[in-house]
Amino acid sequence: MEDLEAAYEMAKLNNIQVKGLMLTNPSNPLGTILDGDTLRSIVAFTNEKNIHLICDEIYSASVFGKPNYVSMAEIIDEDRRNGGGKNSLNLNLIHIVNS
Ligand SMILES: Cc1ncc(COP(=O)(O)O)c(C=O)c1O
Repeated sequence: MEDLEAAYEMAKLNNIQVKGLMLTNPSNPLGTILDGDTLRSIVAFTNEKNIHLICDEIYSASVFGKPNYVSMAEIIDEDRRNGGGKNSLNLNLIHIVNS
């Protein structure tokens, strides 16, 4: 999260308007995955900055065994079930890519 924040601030210093963050989960080619806490932190970051989050989950069916794969859709669902509140996720800013 510190690296993300630093990159965001550096872009601002260079007059670059950051419009969004893209991630590939699971990654290609290694198939490594981001855990739920990391996904929660990332979406809280993009939501707070009011920028888009694009999650490419095209390889989600290619993860086997533990730790279990967590989709951004589950993080959103969790947020809805918790009643949202004032820091509720803005769904207009979250995009999930699949196939
Ligand atoms: C991470 C990721 N997303 C999406 C795709 C699909 O891309 P395309 O629709 O251009 O075939 C690929 C293909 O390799 C990929 O690696």
